[in-house]
Amino acid sequence: MKTRITELFGIEHPIIQGGMHYVGFAELAAAVSNAGGLGTITGLTQPSAADLANEIARCHDMTELPFAVNLTFLPALASPDYPAYVKAIVDGGVKIVETAGRNPESVLPMLKDAGVKVIHKCTSVRHSLKAQSIGCDAVSVDGFECGGHPGEDDVPNFILLPRAADELEIPFVASGGMADGRSLVAALALGAEGMNMGTRFMATREAPIHDRVKQALVDASELDTRLVMRPLRNTERVLNNAAAEKLLEKERRLGTEISIDDIIDEVAGVYPRVMIDGEMDVGVWSCGMVTGLIDDIPSCRELIERIMTQADQILRRRLANQA
Ligand SMILES: Cc1cc2nc3c(=O)[nH]c(=O)nc-3n(C[C@H](O)[C@H](O)[C@H](O)COP(=O)(O)O)c2cc1C
Repeated sequence: MKTRITELFGIEHPIIQGGMHYVGFAELAAAVSNAGGLGTITGLTQPSAADLANEIARCHDMTELPFAVNLTFLPALASPDYPAYVKAIVDGGVKIVETAGRNPESVLPMLKDAGVKVIHKCTSVRHSLKAQSIGCDAVSVDGFECGGHPGEDDVPNFILLPRAADELEIPFVASGGMADGRSLVAALALGAEGMNMGTRFMATREAPIHDRVKQALVDASELDTRLVMRPLRNTERVLNNAAAEKLLEKERRLGTEISIDDIIDEVAGVYPRVMIDGEMDVGVWSCGMVTGLIDDIPSCRELIERIMTQADQILRRRLANQA
């Protein structure tokens, strides 16, 4: 399947694995890329730019195909050394960067000068247009269903994607709630040129995370995510667990008085303990509603081939016969 996204990134299938904290290590990125999609290393999971350089080198050892690095611009007070991370990306010969969070304008000149293509992930039409206006090559449009940070507008993909299609000139992929061939065909029908998946790629054999996390995704239904940190305007969709319930109870009790210090136990330092050690209730961790569509733990190649086969069958058999 050729789309503007497969052409832009030089990949076989229009399927991207989005950056995921403590999930997007070289093993997963390489497995997705080797299966014909675009794998992504999560830059800030690496404690320093030197560590990121190592991770990029490890990924090059595992695949000759293109892969990306995610750079998330956090609302953090102590900002990471972004120029050093960008230098590690450029020096490491990575040609695609997924930016997310705040406006990536400050790093664009460095990336563009090095010939790096930038796909910015955002949750609204206005931020997508901003990304286009500052020179991003593509956008990943993340609907309200998504795992992680859906923003504060709460517009689901059935509305958001056609709105983006009406306004954008640069290509975009659909992100949030994507799982299978049905998602891909729907994304294309709504104007996207491919899809980005997070949660679905966690439940794959190569995702280097604890088996208990993968099993939790298989067991959970679409009713099992919660939105936390809304009063802080830093909304995150997470899998419901004891920590999420505790956090939400604090939000109810403290109302608008709540601050990050009140919930620090539920959010700080959680990811390595969940993803690596499998301590499932130690804090809140991102998960999309799409967990309700996850029933197995295939390899990345099996998953991507299944998606492409199902998409092909829907297009050629079901829809062609109805046209
Ligand atoms: C466990 C987890 C961690 C994530 N961490 C990041 C991150 O560090 N940076 C980022 O830009 N997006 C992050 N995301 C968002 C994903 O890249 C992707 O946009 C999102 O998962 C898409 O929605 P889906 O889960 O419904 O597929 C994370 C998602 C998950 C599930």
